[in-house]
Amino acid sequence: MAKKKEYTCVLVETDGEGITWITFNRPEKRNAMSPTLHVEMEEILFGLETDEDTKVIVLTGAGNSWSAGMDLKQYFRETDKDPVGRFRAATAHRRWATELLTWSRKPSIAMVNGYCYGGAFVSLAACDIVIAAENATFGLSEVNWGIIPGGNVSKVFGDMVSYRNALFYAMTGRTIDGRKAVELGIATLSVPAEKLREETVAIARELMAKSPMVLAYTKQAIRAVRGMDMDQAYEYLGAKSMALRAADPEQTRARGMREFLDEKKFRPGLEPLKRPVSEK
Ligand code: COA
Repeated sequence: MAKKKEYTCVLVETDGEGITWITFNRPEKRNAMSPTLHVEMEEILFGLETDEDTKVIVLTGAGNSWSAGMDLKQYFRETDKDPVGRFRAATAHRRWATELLTWSRKPSIAMVNGYCYGGAFVSLAACDIVIAAENATFGLSEVNWGIIPGGNVSKVFGDMVSYRNALFYAMTGRTIDGRKAVELGIATLSVPAEKLREETVAIARELMAKSPMVLAYTKQAIRAVRGMDMDQAYEYLGAKSMALRAADPEQTRARGMREFLDEKKFRPGLEPLKRPVSEK
């Protein structure tokens, strides 16, 4: 069912297919993230988690920017003397990005249409897949502002790129285009700007063809083991596998094995499992 809701700083549209488009909607401020934007995003993502019409979440920006990072005026300068306001905004950002979106059961795609600076890297890291326009511009500009990449930007950036590149780009503030972002590990793939939406929809459809439960467990497993040592990861993945077998309403594992081993009508290395029509 198609749905549309406009907030002060964000536009949310769910198409009839299952893609929910979340658009940072402050193009005149290059979609800089204000305290209001963070509070709205927290509410939106909390709601989408249980929204049956949302199968994939796409995060993009209005105009020529994905997000120019934290709003230097509203988030930083205006809250310098308002610790309560700063706490509320910082907590909302942490919740929507590093909790709700990072751990969402729904797959997420960042469709990066333009500028992506500073604090926007935390939002970017929260998305599972990053599709960038070749002419998008990424950068850690903090060094030019007299600040460090705080608010976990240094952490998520250092997790995406090599140690050497983390130091280089944080210390120089040099910008990175979409192609280079793929090379560095910031983006999953880059495409010409005019193909950005088409490619995003194609990948969203590919994801929607999978079992939602298997997809949710897969992304959570990949994310969770990053912070574990070998032994912890073995234990965790063993338990997570058993949990999936118990929880999967489609019993994808049993059906996949039956169709490959017994019925010889499915080859998982060559084609996606055909899900029951009623479950799509
Ligand atoms: N915080 C607050 N306002 C911002 C902003 C930010 N992070 N980024 C852009 N804006 C505002 C500008 O102040 C300007 O407002 P105004 O119209 O009231 O003057 C408006 O957005 C347009 O910005 P402008 O610089 O004219 O646009 P541009 O297209 O020429 O350049 C950027 C776009 C993103 C390259 C440039 O705005 C920029 O460098 N922004 C800062 C990015 C940054 O350092 N982010 C990290 C913060 S930690």
